[in-house]
Amino acid sequence: MTVPEIAAPAGATPAESAPAESASAEVKPGTSVPARTAPTAGAGGSADSADPDGQALRPHAEDAFAAELAALAAADDRPRPARWRLSPWAVATYLLGGTLPDGTVITPKYVGPRRIVEVAVTTLATDRALLLLGVPGTAKTWVSEHLAAAVSGDSTLLVQGTAGTPEEAIRYGWNYAQLLAHGPSRAALVPSPVMRAMSEGMTARVEELTRIPADVQDSLITILSEKTLPVPELGEEVQAVRGFNLIATANDRDRGVNDLSSALRRRFNTVVLPLPADTEAEVDIVSRRVDQLGRSLDLPAAPDGMDEIRRVVTVFRELRDGVTADGRTKLKSPSGTLSTAEAISVVTGGLALAAHFGDGVLRPGDVAAGILGAVVRDPAADRVIWQEYVETVVREREGWKDFYRACREVSA
Ligand SMILES: Nc1ncnc2c1ncn2[C@@H]1O[C@H](COP(=O)(O)OP(=O)(O)OP(=O)(O)O)[C@@H](O)[C@H]1O
Ligand SMILES: [Mg+2]
Repeated sequence: MTVPEIAAPAGATPAESAPAESASAEVKPGTSVPARTAPTAGAGGSADSADPDGQALRPHAEDAFAAELAALAAADDRPRPARWRLSPWAVATYLLGGTLPDGTVITPKYVGPRRIVEVAVTTLATDRALLLLGVPGTAKTWVSEHLAAAVSGDSTLLVQGTAGTPEEAIRYGWNYAQLLAHGPSRAALVPSPVMRAMSEGMTARVEELTRIPADVQDSLITILSEKTLPVPELGEEVQAVRGFNLIATANDRDRGVNDLSSALRRRFNTVVLPLPADTEAEVDIVSRRVDQLGRSLDLPAAPDGMDEIRRVVTVFRELRDGVTADGRTKLKSPSGTLSTAEAISVVTGGLALAAHFGDGVLRPGDVAAGILGAVVRDPAADRVIWQEYVETVVREREGWKDFYRACREVSA
């Protein structure tokens, strides 16, 4: 058994260390967690966030998009499930983007089939939990965070799944100083993010569920089917209040590491997030995210970056699919995943190079090194695959001469 940090809930984030009386007020007697550890959860928003002056390198979704969430809440006159900040319709609009009657533009967070988002949102309003499944870089974590932010106003009730995740991270732990001094009591109990979500009717998140050892995963079964969490040491239980649900993410590639038991799988509605359907969709995703990231890193906007973004996406898609875009040439796929997320990093890295060492315009030379780094994960096999691609595809393609030269330079 691991010893949790004293007075800090398991998996605590900085947001949780600030005391807040209000959160415990709405909790039913007998189901509440100790007021001492009552989190800011439920208050959410930027007013009482852990990052009031906006200096966080990566603000939580509910802070970064607080204005959009507030505008949606104001415009939203549809019925809201118990303890939801927004109606399912407004949550879907928050994720997919749109324009409100008063002209407020909601930026799309997720670019993909509308139906997927609708199914995911409605699942959260049912008694089944939501499992987001997909290959790496398909925005599972991203969607899970934004869903929690829109539904509960708080995306921080998070358990990060690893091979070493203990049961306490999902159920509860103990403050050992308290436990030794006074014996088991409510005050000595350190609730997990899941336990807190249950008692406050919030959305909990479990990242990388299939990396968690099978016996620890199974502690979710009672929580999801009975909606209670027994605390035998105290002869009590925590009952989930309305509004509680759970979003888990799992990676396709990890399948087989720790398969989900069928008992647990039945408690989830699985939504598979696909890779972007075509080049245009992927270029759209990459350019949006690069723009957002660039702004938070204070990189100058690259007015003519679209050509390079399209090129990075084309290279990634061709190598990932094992065939050129025109379908004529078969290619070998490298060992790396070459996901949209990696394309975003390559372009962001390229923009930084262009901003600091170039003239601010994204050019082939700025992305070539990044692409090489993403493609060549295995120095022997991947390098051969890359060189073959450069010599047979890049070299022959119209308008790709500069890029070909840049690739030759960085591989030399
Ligand atoms: N369809 C999409 N719409 C919007 N953003 C996307 C999409 N696909 C990928 N992204 C972007 O890719 C980045 C990585 O996504 P994320 O980390 O959520 O992937 P993941 O599926 O959780 O990957 P992993 O399996 O490695 O954990 C995010 O910044 C996200 O914005
Ligand atoms: Mg993830």
